[in-house]
Amino acid sequence: GRRPPLSELEGVPLPAATVDNWGQIQGFEAKPDDLVICTYPKSGTTWIQEIVDMIEQNGDVEKCQRATIQHRHPFLEWARPPQPSGVEQAREMPSPRVLRTHLPTQLLPRSFWETRCKFLYVARNAKDCTVSYYHFQRMNQTLPDPGPWEEYLETFLSGKVGWGSWFEHVKGWWEVRHRYQILFLFYEDLKRDPKREIQKVVQFLGKRVDGPVLDRIVQETSFEKMKANPMTNRSLVPKSILDQSISPFMRKGTVGDWKNHFTVAQNERFEEIYRRKMEGTSICFCTEL
Ligand code: A3P
Repeated sequence: GRRPPLSELEGVPLPAATVDNWGQIQGFEAKPDDLVICTYPKSGTTWIQEIVDMIEQNGDVEKCQRATIQHRHPFLEWARPPQPSGVEQAREMPSPRVLRTHLPTQLLPRSFWETRCKFLYVARNAKDCTVSYYHFQRMNQTLPDPGPWEEYLETFLSGKVGWGSWFEHVKGWWEVRHRYQILFLFYEDLKRDPKREIQKVVQFLGKRVDGPVLDRIVQETSFEKMKANPMTNRSLVPKSILDQSISPFMRKGTVGDWKNHFTVAQNERFEEIYRRKMEGTSICFCTEL
């Protein structure tokens, strides 16, 4: 069918077009005033982008409405010839730039480390990430069909999904968080106390926002608002790419939806593998909300 298989780069599955464009991505020239939004897929990329955007526009909803967030924050891995690639879009952009990537640390172009620009990393607990990715692969016609849920669970655990193993991704970024300018956030914290987490972002970006503006940013970046907003809900992306009749892009936006998908046995198996793979790391997710 229409769905292309993933390619691999240093053992990490990626869209074939991204691998084909790797020379350009690897040679990317970062700038010191770049802000890079880094996430494993389905961890709240769209959410944090909108938060950053609202902060930069000082809570001006109208200004944030002028273009889709995808358009304003080039995605490094984007490659869909003859359209300009993510790298080309970034080159055309005036500084300071906000860029977006799902790359694990070992694949990040080295100029990012060298320029010592700022990184915003958002992590989401593994179980909800699996569920969200499963539904995303069902509706995203550019990614492989996930197959039945019980099979997908194994695919996810073995890291044979786009951008590779959740475990390696999260551990990799967690380990370097103190060595670079990285603000490490959790989806679950954003959900529980958006105001506090958004304030952290404001501070990290070296901005100031007034109380009423902060309140507006909290309101406007809620799941409900973003689900209703064509600039953030991706309803402008053609159905041949994202088929939202299969599953909406703004699907549920909750913590703990894994409980509606995992059987008791699947949960036990998942936790056993989780413990093994996460042994020795200090990262801790608050999933019991
Ligand atoms: P679900 O599939 O669990 O609903 P990404 O942007 O990295 O692709 O992540 C998408 C996930 O983030 C989806 O999760 C989506 O619903 C959720 N999401 C997007 N905006 C959100 C918001 N404002 N609040 C909470 N969750 C949000």
